[in-house]
Amino acid sequence: MRTIAVIALKGGSGKTTVATHIALAAHLRGLKTVVADTDPQRSATEVLRARDGLGPTSVGAIGSSLFAAQIAAVGSGMDTMVIDTAAGAVEDVAQAIVVADYSLLVVRPTLMDIAAAVRTVDIIRRLRKPAMIVVNQAPTARDGVEPPSVKRALRALEVMRLPVVPTLLRSRAIYQSALETGKSVEECYDVNAAREIAALWTFIERFTFGKRDTPPPPDAAEDEDLKFAP
Ligand SMILES: Nc1ncnc2c1ncn2[C@@H]1O[C@H](COP(=O)(O)OP(=O)(O)O)[C@@H](O)[C@H]1O
Ligand SMILES: [Mg+2]
Repeated sequence: MRTIAVIALKGGSGKTTVATHIALAAHLRGLKTVVADTDPQRSATEVLRARDGLGPTSVGAIGSSLFAAQIAAVGSGMDTMVIDTAAGAVEDVAQAIVVADYSLLVVRPTLMDIAAAVRTVDIIRRLRKPAMIVVNQAPTARDGVEPPSVKRALRALEVMRLPVVPTLLRSRAIYQSALETGKSVEECYDVNAAREIAALWTFIERFTFGKRDTPPPPDAAEDEDLKFAP
C-alpha cells in the first residue's frame, strides 16, 4: 500500500482539496483507496460522504492513531491511503510525515505562504522523509506567460530544495463546486482542471513509486502545456 500525506501548517492552502482529489484520482483509476482524516473538522470525510459510498472510504484518525489506521488499511486490502491534515497541528503533521511514503506540501504561490511553509519543510528535513511541493491556487498564465507573482514564488520555492510538481493547480471555481457534490474535477466538464489533476496524479505515481501500474489517464502529464509557462 502507498501512503501519501497532504500537509501544510497553514490553513486554507488547499490540503483538503488536494487530498480528496488525489484520493478520487486513485479511486477513479481502480485503486482501493482510503482517506485518513486527521482534521477534527472532518472536511474530507464530509466531501466523500456526498458520494454515497461510491468512492474512497474515509477513517477519522488523530496523529497517534495513524499507524494503527495504516495497518488496518493494509489488512483490508487497500492500495492507497491519503492522509488529510489540519492546519497548525504540528504533532499530527509530524506523525503523518512519519507514516507516509511521501508527503505533499501544498502552498499557494505567495511569498507569505512560502515563508509560512519553511516551518513545515523544517519538520520534513528533521524527519528525513521524502516530500514534494504542489503549488495550488495559482493565477492563470496569460498568453502562456506566468504572472510575475508566480515567477517570484517559484524562484522562492527553489530555496526549499524539494521537488516541485511541474503542473501548477490554478485557481478555478470548479475545484470548490465539484467537491460540494463529492466529485473530483475529473468527473466534471472542466477539461483544464481535469488535466491538472490527471497530471498531478501521474507525477505522484512516477515520482514517488517510480512505476506506473495503473492505466495512463487520458492526455495527462506528458502534456507540455501543463508545465510552468516561461
Ligand atoms: N485550486 C483552487 N481553486 C479555487 N479554490 C480553491 C482551490 N484550492 C482550494 N480552494 C478553495 O480554498 C478554500 C480552502 O481550501 P481547503 O482545501 O479547504 O484548504 P485547507 O484544507 O488547506 O484548509 C476552499 O474554499 C477551497 O474550495
Ligand atoms: Mg482542510
